[in-house]
Amino acid sequence: MPPSTHILTCALALAVTAVSLPAQTAAQSAAQPAANPYTIVSPPPVRAEHAMVVTVQHDASDAGVEILKHGGNAVDAAVAVGFALAVVYPFAGNLGGGGFMLIRTHTGPNQVQTRFLDYREMAPAAATANMYLDAQGNVIPGASISGYKASGVPGTVAGLCYTQKHFGKLSLAADMAPAIRLATDGFVLSADEARALHSANLGRFPVSAEIFQRNGNFYQAGDTFKQPLLAATLRTIARDPADFYKGDIARQIAAFEQANGGLITAADLAAYQVKDREPLTGSYHGYTILTAPPPSSGGIVLLEILNILSGYNLPTLGADRTPKQVHFITEAFRRAFMDRADYLGDPDFVSMPIQQMASPAYAAAWRKTIDDTRATPSKDLVRPAGFLPPPPTASATPHESTQTTHFSVVDSEGNAVSSTYTLNFGFGSGVTVAGLGFLLNDEMDDFTSKPGAPNGFGLIQSANNAIAPGKRPLSAMTPTIVVGPEACRPGPDLQCKPGKPLLVLGSPGGPTIITTVANDLISILDNGLNVQQAADAPRFHHQYLPDVLQVEKAFPLDVVDKLKAAGYTIKRNDEADEHNPGVWGDSEMIYIDPKTNTLLGGHDQRHSFGKAAGY
Ligand code: DON
Repeated sequence: MPPSTHILTCALALAVTAVSLPAQTAAQSAAQPAANPYTIVSPPPVRAEHAMVVTVQHDASDAGVEILKHGGNAVDAAVAVGFALAVVYPFAGNLGGGGFMLIRTHTGPNQVQTRFLDYREMAPAAATANMYLDAQGNVIPGASISGYKASGVPGTVAGLCYTQKHFGKLSLAADMAPAIRLATDGFVLSADEARALHSANLGRFPVSAEIFQRNGNFYQAGDTFKQPLLAATLRTIARDPADFYKGDIARQIAAFEQANGGLITAADLAAYQVKDREPLTGSYHGYTILTAPPPSSGGIVLLEILNILSGYNLPTLGADRTPKQVHFITEAFRRAFMDRADYLGDPDFVSMPIQQMASPAYAAAWRKTIDDTRATPSKDLVRPAGFLPPPPTASATPHESTQTTHFSVVDSEGNAVSSTYTLNFGFGSGVTVAGLGFLLNDEMDDFTSKPGAPNGFGLIQSANNAIAPGKRPLSAMTPTIVVGPEACRPGPDLQCKPGKPLLVLGSPGGPTIITTVANDLISILDNGLNVQQAADAPRFHHQYLPDVLQVEKAFPLDVVDKLKAAGYTIKRNDEADEHNPGVWGDSEMIYIDPKTNTLLGGHDQRHSFGKAAGY
């Protein structure tokens, strides 16, 4: 349920329209580099007059534009992208995973609808709370990350087909045509894409090793990668989407799982359901923030961060990534992540104080605990009393991980789609279903394997995220749409036009997803960076525990020194660390200039093969 205190009513919007848009947004069109303490030269954002698609892989972006040009709306294009990424970005694009799609579409003159399609994976019926523990009660290393037992029941096919059916304009077959073509005819691999297919995770499983690695005769840059089995699976889905859950595909998945010790059964697949949820709604500087509700933690943590920061005038403290700004933003991250740790899980299984967490009064109380100049050690943090119920007692730790993908679409009617979906780790469980040609997720790892034990990311969560049959693991994925104020004509018959979408954004990156989205939003709305500059700016992340401020390798050293002097422990990620190669995330954003309606696309340059494509 959206936090009622934050819903922008027509009357409130009337007041908001009297306030001019933040001056910083004017910088979007000017594309002037701000005086920031880092030197990254960003190309100008890609401009389009009608529609735009931004994804991590250029063929997928082109697939979306192709559908838009054939008369599809933003949802058709997003469905086309979702299926295309399953072909051209097997690292995270998928049929065997799950995700979220936030849509805002026009349903009539001056009418919009916002929906949040939750097609997150579900734990199979045979899953148990202790399934990844050995006889001594210790976590079995890797058991929830790699192999046949690591997968939840996939939701992507159901999610994309449901969204297409209810909100698209074209047919499913039309929207899937580019993906089928890319799988059948192949696509040309760049050097980075070919290198990614060397993954040890794929090499461990025979079907994956055969399809993605030609059993050791690895693909090279410039090779055309064809996937005939995946093409056949896609054709079957295009003809009859129910086949994946109740037909031959379902029977093949179940037989494959049974033969290899996996848990997913035909009954699990038949029982899978998309959840059509209300997005969370908040506000920041007069803009409406539409974002992800549970089972993602992303939206509520983002709203808490923004609510806390609403009390500061960030641009007066310095430019983007200056020590003062980073200090207050980090303190907001720390506090919001403490609440994430204690309360969140699947809303269909546990109750959570979402409304209280999103309340501005609660944020104001948190703000009072922030020292103007010094870091608050996480161990000393005390939640303001009188707002939230006591958290569940047993603390637990999930593993969060390193691959996922986000894409953004805006069409010529101003319909917007923000979608993040995932296999979890790169190439998911590493397991490709024999005869069907797609990888299965390792999303079970997002659950709590064992209460109290620290995970690779050091994230702490409550028992609300324990494994249970049919439950969805807590996510950090944060697809978000920022909407401008409603335009209201005063008078006795008050008439309002819905606000125009301003920004469509999201990122992969496990827990860093939330801080990446927050950083992008602040860079754009507070600091006047354009979408490309915001995507390129060096990232910083704090998640309460461990009490470490992580910064990307391009983060300015003099700012690091000043933050250390203010009491922060800082980890500056290093290129040489293969698990943390100095960068994280992948912002794929669209900004719609409120004055000219020109679309500005920013593709994250941390990935070499993506594209902002428009017309
Ligand atoms: O749902 C989640 O939060 C994780 N499964 C996402 C993993 C992820 O973003 C890794 N990407 N870099």
